[in-house]
Amino acid sequence: MSQLFDDLEDFGSFDDAVSGDVRDPYPELARLRREEPIQRIDMSAMPGQAGLPVFIVYRYEDAQQMLRDNETFSSSGVIAAFGPVLGDRVMLGMDEPVHGRLRSLISAAFSQKSLARRQDELVARVGNELIDTFADNGKADLVKQFTFDYPSRIIAGLLGLPERDYPQFQRWSISLLGWVVNPERGLAASAALCEYFAPILEARRTEPRDDLISLLAAAEIDGEKLTDEEIYSFLRLLLPAGVETVYRSLGNLLFALLTHTAQLDAVRADRSLIPQAIEEAVRWNPPLLTITRTTTCDTVLGGVEIPKGCSVLPMLGSTNRQEDRWENPDDFDLFRTAKANLGWGYGVHVCLGMHLARLEMRTAVNLLLDRLPDLRMDPDGDDPHIRGQIFRSPTSLPVLFDPVRSAV
Ligand code: HEM
Repeated sequence: MSQLFDDLEDFGSFDDAVSGDVRDPYPELARLRREEPIQRIDMSAMPGQAGLPVFIVYRYEDAQQMLRDNETFSSSGVIAAFGPVLGDRVMLGMDEPVHGRLRSLISAAFSQKSLARRQDELVARVGNELIDTFADNGKADLVKQFTFDYPSRIIAGLLGLPERDYPQFQRWSISLLGWVVNPERGLAASAALCEYFAPILEARRTEPRDDLISLLAAAEIDGEKLTDEEIYSFLRLLLPAGVETVYRSLGNLLFALLTHTAQLDAVRADRSLIPQAIEEAVRWNPPLLTITRTTTCDTVLGGVEIPKGCSVLPMLGSTNRQEDRWENPDDFDLFRTAKANLGWGYGVHVCLGMHLARLEMRTAVNLLLDRLPDLRMDPDGDDPHIRGQIFRSPTSLPVLFDPVRSAV
């Protein structure tokens, strides 16, 4: 498999290696939710797991309860799994109180208010530049030509990286994300990214600019600043957390709209529907079906005994389709009554980048609808579909539209 991955050029090949072609995991998730809502998987035959069972949590209430109880259900498993590539000070894998301190140092940069000013000059600019490359053609593959580059260029822009470095940054991002499949390449990319960031961080310390790296360098609470290692960890976390999730979620949202034409027409006519379309897409097909926690003591969840030290995985993709919470949960319906879902996580680690993600998706849908008249799925396209068992998104979105010659 790792050989396959050496040729990796894009997330599509990554999906081939990681997710295979599982189109619809939901019937099986529904069965487990009904029959074995907290599934115990025996691992006694697996070396390296200390023989401890793994638990998968399928119901909304149980998943919510465990994510709320961050003392019993620790995030340390993330560092055990991803420490080598993301660093051992990565906030996603830290527990309280250290996590809270890190998060409060960083969160100001991701507030709705501080992002609003980036909407035109960064997010919409990147979107428009990408659309410029195909607006005259009357057809495009929105994954290869839009959703794939869009979030990484925006993160690079937020970080204040020079534009000439974007292609290299993109390649390192992909290698880092593919660490599970090709560890050697992932570790090399992780080291290369730190080396790349080091002089930039140094420069921003002496001469701060209006960018995220300067902000991380200066962030201070009670006289405490982020260490270099914490900054590198956070910068690398932005790739899986902030690039891959948006690439996938935007693909899922566009797929949903393009295959539900009445809802697409409604959104085209009334853009104020976009925010609820975004939330519904994240419920319907979250980019990441599961996250992970580790028990810090013996405990009981949903009547099932879970020993200390076990991995417990809330299956977000299942909780988001629970029948007694959402009517016809398998349908994409942006008009359904709004209700919180777990696609963004829950509790102290709830997605830090949700305002950015929403801004990116909202801007993308607006621009695509504004600039590509009569945007529709290409009926002769290559069977576009959402796929994957852990990460989910379409690998292609072939579309047609009326070509326009006027760039914005
Ligand atoms: C639709 C897009 C996105 C979805 C569905 C999503 C989902 C999630 C989920 C489920 C978690 C919780 C993980 C856990 O508890 O173990 C999370 C955490 C996080 N996300 Fe997002 N995310 C998205 C976009 C973004 C973006 C654009 C950024 C970046 C800037 C970002 C940054 C983060 C960070 C830093 C965390 C860790 C927060 C913490 O540990 O306190 N995410 N996200």
